[in-house]
Amino acid sequence: MGGRKKVTVIGAGNVGATVAQRVAELNIADVVLLDIPLTEKMPMGKALDLLETGPVLGYDTLITGTTGYDETADSDVVVITSGLPRKPGMSRDDLLLKNAGIIKQVTESVIAKSPNCIIIVVTNPLDAMAQLAYVVSGLPKGRVIGMAGVLDSARYRTFIAQELDVSVQDVTAFVLGGHGDTMVPLPRYSTVAGIPITELLSADRIKALNERTANGGAEIVNLLKTSAYYAPAASAVAMVDAILLDKKRVLPCATLLEGEYGVNGLFVGVPCKLGSEGVEQIIEIKLQEDERQALQKSIDAVSELVEVMKQNMPEVKF
Ligand code: APR
Repeated sequence: MGGRKKVTVIGAGNVGATVAQRVAELNIADVVLLDIPLTEKMPMGKALDLLETGPVLGYDTLITGTTGYDETADSDVVVITSGLPRKPGMSRDDLLLKNAGIIKQVTESVIAKSPNCIIIVVTNPLDAMAQLAYVVSGLPKGRVIGMAGVLDSARYRTFIAQELDVSVQDVTAFVLGGHGDTMVPLPRYSTVAGIPITELLSADRIKALNERTANGGAEIVNLLKTSAYYAPAASAVAMVDAILLDKKRVLPCATLLEGEYGVNGLFVGVPCKLGSEGVEQIIEIKLQEDERQALQKSIDAVSELVEVMKQNMPEVKF
C-alpha cells in the first residue's frame, strides 16, 4: 500500500461524481468512485475521464471506478451519496424508506472493508440517513457525520452577500437543526466581517432570507428538476479536506447529540470541530427562547423520520 490517503465516494451520480472531481483536484487523496452494476461500467467511465483530467489540471490523484467494494478497502473517508435524488413536488421525507434501504446496504458493505473509516453522509433525508449509517456502522459517534449545515449556511451566505452587495468571503452564517424546511438560521450569529446581520438588515428582510435559505433545496429542484449538486458536493469536500488535513475547522454538521442543546440520541445539525478524528467537539451556544422553539420544531421533524425507520426496519438496532 502506498502512503496516500484514500477517499471513497459511494454513488457516482451528480453529487458523487462532483465530489470525486473536487477531491481529485485537491490532490490530497486517491479517490475510489463506486456505483451499482445496474449502471454498467459508468463509475469506471467517470473515473477514467477524471484521471485523464489530471495532466491538464496538474493533479496526480489516482481515481478508480468500481462496482464492487474490494477497491474501497482501507478508506480514510467515505462519502455516501447513493440514493434517489428529490424530484419536483417530492419532499425529502418521501425519500425516506427507499434511501434507508440503500444506506443500510451501503454502510454494511463499506464497514466490511474499511472498519476504521470516517463516513460523511450526503443522502437525504440527511439527518435520518446519518443516524441510520451511524447505527449500522457501529463506528464511534464522531466518525459518522452528516453534510447539511455547510450547504445550508453557504446558501444563507450567498443570499446575505447578494442582499448587502458585499463579498461572500466576508459573510459567515450560522444554521442549526435538521436539513429541511424546519432548519433554523440564526441571524444574530450571522455576520458581515463580524457585524451581525441584525445590525445591517431589517427584520423583514432577514425573515425573507431565512425562508429562502430553508427552502434553498426546493428552489433548485424546481429549476433543475432534480436536486442540487455543485454546492452539496463542494460542501462535502470542505468536510473531507478539514478531516484529511486535520484542520479543526468549525463547521455546522449533523452529529449525534447526547444532551447538547437539550437533545438526546438524535442526529441534528450543530457547530462541530472537524479534524482527523471526525467530529472532535460539539460547540454549544445559549439559545434565545424563539430560537429554542424553532430548534425544537426541527428536532421533532427529524425525530418523526427516525421513528418511521424504527417501525419499518426492525432488523436495525436503533
Ligand atoms: N449502491 C451504490 N450506488 C447506488 C446505490 C447503491 N445501493 N443505489 C443507488 N446508487 C447510485 C445510483 O445508481 C446513482 O448513480 O446513486 C447515484 C445517485 O446519483 P443521482 O441519481 O445523480 O443523485 P444525486 O443528485 O447525486 O443525489 C444523491 O444526495 O443530495 C442528495 O438528495 C440527494 O439523496 C440524494 C443524493
